[in-house]
Amino acid sequence: MKSKDILLIVLLFSSYFAIAQTAYTNFKPGEVWLDDKGNAVNAHGGGFLVYDETYYWFGEHKESGKMGAKALVGVHVYSSKDLYNWKDEGVALSMSNDTTSMLRKGCVLERPKVIYNKKTQKFVMWFHHELKDQGYKAALTGVAVSDKVTGPFRYINSMRLHPKVYAKNFTKEQQQIASLPLKEPVKPNHKGFAGVHMIRDFETGQMSRDMNLFVDEDEQAYHITASEENQTLLISKLSDDYLSMTDDYVRVFPGETNEAPAILKKDGKYFMFSSYTTGWNPNPGRLAVSDNMMSGWKALENPCRGSEEEKKTTFHSQSTFVIPVIGKKNTFIYVGDRWNSKDLGDSRYIWLPVEFEDGIPFLKWHQSWDLDFFNK
Ligand code: DGJ
Repeated sequence: MKSKDILLIVLLFSSYFAIAQTAYTNFKPGEVWLDDKGNAVNAHGGGFLVYDETYYWFGEHKESGKMGAKALVGVHVYSSKDLYNWKDEGVALSMSNDTTSMLRKGCVLERPKVIYNKKTQKFVMWFHHELKDQGYKAALTGVAVSDKVTGPFRYINSMRLHPKVYAKNFTKEQQQIASLPLKEPVKPNHKGFAGVHMIRDFETGQMSRDMNLFVDEDEQAYHITASEENQTLLISKLSDDYLSMTDDYVRVFPGETNEAPAILKKDGKYFMFSSYTTGWNPNPGRLAVSDNMMSGWKALENPCRGSEEEKKTTFHSQSTFVIPVIGKKNTFIYVGDRWNSKDLGDSRYIWLPVEFEDGIPFLKWHQSWDLDFFNK
């Protein structure tokens, strides 16, 4: 046999194994998930966009080991037709080498979410942004835009929310208290007057850490974020082009400690998965419901069913998104991160089918499952 033929056979074999390796037909929550190139999918705190009958998965590209908490690469994007097999589409938003850039390498960029604006035909990304070497103090939300779904996204800016504007549901009484001079320094107040943070940040704007986006059936987009030292959620309406905030916003669950919000809508009701705040460690899952994004949110029970340990840790995960399955009405997948604080780059993904009882979502552990689950 000629050496050319041998080379051809070797090439054929290796490409066969490369394909076989990534031809997934089911989900295995918590296991390493390889992309089309045979690398572990690197898209943490992810957000999903359905565009042109294709799923796009955007997430934090995390380095291994101690550097995992810092953004050194940017937002990684993958595409898939079937939700099992993901094609590496590269870096959608890159960190900057320019030391004067807000988005310089080494800052914190978490939980990127991308939505498509039908009017402007632009893809808009929002993300949690912290400035380099300032820990989680800046508490900003950032925005970037692209003409193409996979990028490159152009960074626009990062901001605190709603300076000098009270939330629509900040009561008259709270506004009166807010108008009195504050005793300095204002200490974070976890149990007492659940407006103290908001007053403290009134001039400079409200904090924004864990965040998510939700586009409603009428194309109105909402920005949902953990604010006021993660004590209170803020839900804000985005502008028509999705590139900025309107000042139409509300405080949800003031003083009740929520992170990691992720919304699904079913039969006219909005459900929100979220978590408590324990850094990279998991905690009990939370669920809330409302008939309206901007009012009436009610807390429900922990959505997790299973052992005490599973309920206490949300199956060792923290919510990041709920994927609506293409072509299947009322069919959703819970997506969570199983953070590995010792090696953030090796954090895994927990995907579980969202099940319903009496119209209320719940989650159960599945070692391995596929989309046929929804036909049963
Ligand atoms: C929990 C958040 O949900 C994560 O996105 C990240 O910010 C960690 N805290 C950092 O400790």
